[in-house]
Amino acid sequence: MPETPVPGDGPLLTVDGLTAGYTGVPAIRDLSFTVGAGEVVSLLGPNGAGKTTSLLAMVGLVPLMAGSVTALGAAVDPKRPYKLARRGVLLVPDDRGIFPGLTVRDHFRLAQRKADPAREEAVLGRFPALRGLLARRVGLCSGGEQQMLTIAKALLGRPRVLMIDEMSLGLAPKIVQEMLPSIRALAREEGIGVVLVEQHIELALSVSDRGVILNHGRVVLEGAARDLLAHRDQVEAAYFGAEEFAGAEVGA
Ligand SMILES: Nc1ncnc2c1ncn2[C@@H]1O[C@H](COP(=O)(O)OP(=O)(O)OP(=O)(O)O)[C@@H](O)[C@H]1O
Ligand SMILES: [Mg+2]
Repeated sequence: MPETPVPGDGPLLTVDGLTAGYTGVPAIRDLSFTVGAGEVVSLLGPNGAGKTTSLLAMVGLVPLMAGSVTALGAAVDPKRPYKLARRGVLLVPDDRGIFPGLTVRDHFRLAQRKADPAREEAVLGRFPALRGLLARRVGLCSGGEQQMLTIAKALLGRPRVLMIDEMSLGLAPKIVQEMLPSIRALAREEGIGVVLVEQHIELALSVSDRGVILNHGRVVLEGAARDLLAHRDQVEAAYFGAEEFAGAEVGA
């Protein structure tokens, strides 16, 4: 995939005052953050907080009601979400997008426009467990293995920005604990900007540079991941809906 230039050393993704929702009712209001190359930013919050809506709006699948999203130096065009994917801004949905009757190898083939054995090797190097499963039908793989495949498929396209919606959905905490550090490693080593949507707050923050906590469609707390981890009481209060935290900076 051709490298899309990003002006200067600017962020790969800039979300500025994003407000978006359904049938005129915002499900997320005034969300702003940036993601640079090699950075991981977590969007956290309880069910219905607006996390998935935010991701969908960032890739142009839900129209913006206000604000803007700039990815790889260009405004996201809601009429052409596929263009963004081609340029390397990928959303990994929480339903995993897999075909149970096809093998792992079939999925690798489907994910590539043109076979790229070197890239396949590199991706298998990141998820070695998949190597022994290439001939297995995906319906027979475990939840964790299916999730590895979902991320592996996205990596085959050499993404620049990866948005991952609840990778841990339905997985045992032990598996999540093993998988999340690999997300941080791939961000750092490949210079990918990652937006991580998670319900496992501490695990997500432990592999993130920054965190944004949403509740009822609003940012209730944000800051450096290490500061958020150091103020767990604030994070918990924000997560469970204490009104006084609306828009707060952690530690303030
Ligand atoms: N297609 C839709 N049409 C109308 N309302 C929707 C639609 N999708 C989501 N919503 C509403 O928007 C709000 C935010 O939903 P969203 O899916 O973004 O939350 P979430 O933070 O991803 O939650 P979860 O953790 O359960 O996945 C919720 O009130 C939800 O009911
Ligand atoms: Mg969601």
